[in-house]
Amino acid sequence: VDPTIDLVSEINRLKKEKNAVILAHYYQESEIQDIADYIGDSLGLSQQAAKTDADVIVFAGVHFMAETAKILSPTKKVLLPDLKAGCSLSDSCPPHLFAKFKEQYPDHLVITYVNCTAELKALSDIVCTSSNAVQIVESLPLDQKIIFGPDRNLGAYVKKKTGRDLVLWNGACMVHEIFSQDKIDALQDAYPEAKFIAHPECEDHILAKADYIGSTSGMLKFTIEDSSQTYIVATESGILHQMQKASPTKTFIPAPPNNLCACNDCPHMKLNTLEKLYNCLYYEQPEINLAADVILRAQKPIERMLEISA
Ligand code: 13P
Ligand code: SF4
Repeated sequence: VDPTIDLVSEINRLKKEKNAVILAHYYQESEIQDIADYIGDSLGLSQQAAKTDADVIVFAGVHFMAETAKILSPTKKVLLPDLKAGCSLSDSCPPHLFAKFKEQYPDHLVITYVNCTAELKALSDIVCTSSNAVQIVESLPLDQKIIFGPDRNLGAYVKKKTGRDLVLWNGACMVHEIFSQDKIDALQDAYPEAKFIAHPECEDHILAKADYIGSTSGMLKFTIEDSSQTYIVATESGILHQMQKASPTKTFIPAPPNNLCACNDCPHMKLNTLEKLYNCLYYEQPEINLAADVILRAQKPIERMLEISA
């Protein structure tokens, strides 16, 4: 990219010229969030992808999110600034192994967390996100047997909240399993007034200490509506940008990770940059393409989720 060009104004120009929309997840770099047309959690982003009248969707997020947008808007061009922006949680559940796992429970309904491949969604009955997982399980009859995958932590949380006996796939997110309980305890001692808020992809012993548990949007909303001045935030640190913007006088402290990690950044989410965003809008590459039969099979469980959470 020519170093003299103003990326922000060029992205805005190209967006108009191509009738494109930029959807960004809260874990993106601040400068990407600031140029997005919509910023949200996984549920909000899929609702936007389903209803947009843009011709091109630029998904500033990771691969499974862009795939979900393509499944919901198959006639649109869906672009992802860096095709290598994957997800450790999605990688922890290869579809061929999940298909074998599923065979062991033929009378079970399959609920999959949206953080998985399109092929995995195609093997599912209902998709869910962190903001509607409890609601979706509760919408099913009490005697309904359920497999839940791929996140064991969200699964354990849903089990606890609903009292249902879910069969769990043993997957996890690399970002949400790094938090250090000892360091969080020390931080809480230093800031006794602070509220501790956590994403349900965190481990059970971390969630046990939380004053609020929810999706990224849920956590943001909580910090806006709650009257405390200080928050310790256990999720990817990108969300702090919107929290700080919405409540400039409050203090937000990222929950400390263990000694093996320097920060709470998701290495996949952070692969996207403003420059890559500009290039992908300019060249209309890399594009997400999926086989027609996968789109068809994956559409049903996502639409079922959108109906339940409408
Ligand atoms: P939500 O934004 O839906 O809470 O998802 C969090 C996440 O890990 C996305 O990768
Ligand atoms: Fe995947 Fe975790 Fe990164 Fe979200 S934060 S994209 S779940 S690795």
